[in-house]
Amino acid sequence: MILEKTQIIKVSKNADTAEDIEKLKFASDVIKRGGLCVFPTETVYGLGADALNEKAVKSIYEAKGRPQNNPLIIHLSDVCQIEKYCYTKGVTGLDKLTNLMPAPLTVILKAKENVPKATTGGLDTVAFRIPQNACARKLIELSETPIAAPSANLSGKPSPTCVKDVIEDMYSRADVIIDGGDCEIGIESTIITLCEEPPVLLRPGKISYEKLCELLSDVHVSHAVLDSLKPGEKILSPGMAYKHYAPDKPVVLLRGKTDKKIKYVNEKALCEKIAVICYESDRDKIKCKDTLCAGNKDDNEAYAAKIFSLLRQTNTLNIDKVYAFLPKDTSGISLAIYNRLMRASAFNVIDL
Ligand code: TXA
Ligand code: MG
Repeated sequence: MILEKTQIIKVSKNADTAEDIEKLKFASDVIKRGGLCVFPTETVYGLGADALNEKAVKSIYEAKGRPQNNPLIIHLSDVCQIEKYCYTKGVTGLDKLTNLMPAPLTVILKAKENVPKATTGGLDTVAFRIPQNACARKLIELSETPIAAPSANLSGKPSPTCVKDVIEDMYSRADVIIDGGDCEIGIESTIITLCEEPPVLLRPGKISYEKLCELLSDVHVSHAVLDSLKPGEKILSPGMAYKHYAPDKPVVLLRGKTDKKIKYVNEKALCEKIAVICYESDRDKIKCKDTLCAGNKDDNEAYAAKIFSLLRQTNTLNIDKVYAFLPKDTSGISLAIYNRLMRASAFNVIDL
């Protein structure tokens, strides 16, 4: 930390009042001086530092307890900055993706030499993203540098999507925490690499696999999106190798017909102290006091928006296990819910 104490500052959604700009200038000054600033994005909160300052970047890894070979995404405020840090010439499909930006989408390209190896985790590629969130973009612009930012959680914990969860993990670790309210999407950006032919989807998110196929025609899905890795397996994204998103108590996923899931948890509730994450329409049928609601069955965007805060909420309950209902298929944003829940549960799925 470069400040004595973590400063919490509140900024409005549009980050456009004179007061907002003053506060963001203060935060950008911290970034320029090599400090750490937590900022809101439309996906999850990020723990940011100057991506070109190796010492500052190293302090991100330290604050999170993150392995140093797990690379960081650089956040830019405008598409025109991409070619400053990435080789873009002749990359098929890049224009199709940049047309979507700003977006909850991260693209991996070959890195230019000005991007420190501390930021790329030693790789010769770099992930970049232009956030939709106005406060995030304003902060980057005022900082006059790309901001390297992983999700602002302690390594392994669920990503924070509200300022309460940020404070839980990052108070006294970051110099500044910008409170920009709740993150609308609630699940991290889609990650795609254009360094492979065809491009490979490494992490699903709000920008869906179907949308990417529509734009790029052929996209592979890394098998690590839904499967566990074999020991020693070579992977395209180092983050896939680590335990992720886990609350304190074990998570078990239930897949299958709704009535079977309800019957299963009701039987378990008789002999185990459990919490259940389910849809609104199932709630009344579940005989367990700690039933956490993930929204309506036909609205998996709502499930995505809540999933991390629900997982964190289970830490406050007097329970031994968490059961979570999986969406009925993996289309659209449901693929992202599957991906996060698979990791949170260490691939513990029961098919009913
Ligand atoms: O929505 C998001 O993407 C959020 C917000 C703050 O922007 N950020 C985020 O960062 O989720 P993080 O560090 O928690 O997840 C980034 C993932 C990691 O799994 C990392 O391994 C992978 O992206 N990654 C970063 N650079 C990479 C690269 N050059 N090649 C392959 N994977 C990369
Ligand atoms: Mg993360």
